[in-house]
Amino acid sequence: MIASCATKGLNILRTGIKTITTSAVSKSDHLFVHRDTPEDNPDIVFEFTADNKKRVDAILSIYPEGHKRGAMIPLLDLAQRQHGWLPISAMHKVAEILDLPNMRVYEVATFYTMFMRQPTGQYHLQVCTTTPCWLRGSDDILNVCKQKLGINPGETTKDRKFTLSEVECLGACVNAPMLAVNDDYYEDLTAKDMENILEDCKAGRISKPGPRNGRFASEPKGSLTSLTEEPKGPGFGLQPALA
Ligand code: FES
Repeated sequence: MIASCATKGLNILRTGIKTITTSAVSKSDHLFVHRDTPEDNPDIVFEFTADNKKRVDAILSIYPEGHKRGAMIPLLDLAQRQHGWLPISAMHKVAEILDLPNMRVYEVATFYTMFMRQPTGQYHLQVCTTTPCWLRGSDDILNVCKQKLGINPGETTKDRKFTLSEVECLGACVNAPMLAVNDDYYEDLTAKDMENILEDCKAGRISKPGPRNGRFASEPKGSLTSLTEEPKGPGFGLQPALA
């Protein structure tokens, strides 16, 4: 029997004799262990392109001797941008460049959810469902994605065009609800906006990123609600003896 705990993502599995506790990891849509597959195994050679080799050198040059391992995340990101996702042989290449044991790279690549450990679609849709976005309707946004694409979070469409992920706060709460499509943020969304964005992606058009409700950024939707007067200047409010 599985009893849901009040703490998000924690499940307690009660068997006849023992109680086993599992964390949210077992229910995550991310891959935390490696299993060799035809498209992801150490025998597939990964090499940076000539242009990216120059970028690797430029990134490494930022870090002083003895601290090159600080370049690990930028190098993993570069490998992912080149390949579309991060296969194990790309991790090995980064370990080789940084002269580190492979395990040091596995630790980082499996910790940060921005690293995609499985083949990923051309458009990676990351829908934020953390509290501010949820209160502003992220369920509707996620449902549009699920219904229009026929996939659930953690899945990729058969044509490899879309991968859907449900993610925690992406730092744009003031423009909730929002989603990221690859590197771009789409904000202040309605279900209709989400449909339009998917239509654009399907047609190969680039939807204009940013807020969809007429705001330029994260300013108030109507008129200003604070900082509406001229600044009072230095010394305002001080005792006369200190002014
Ligand atoms: S809660 Fe969605 S961006 Fe912060």
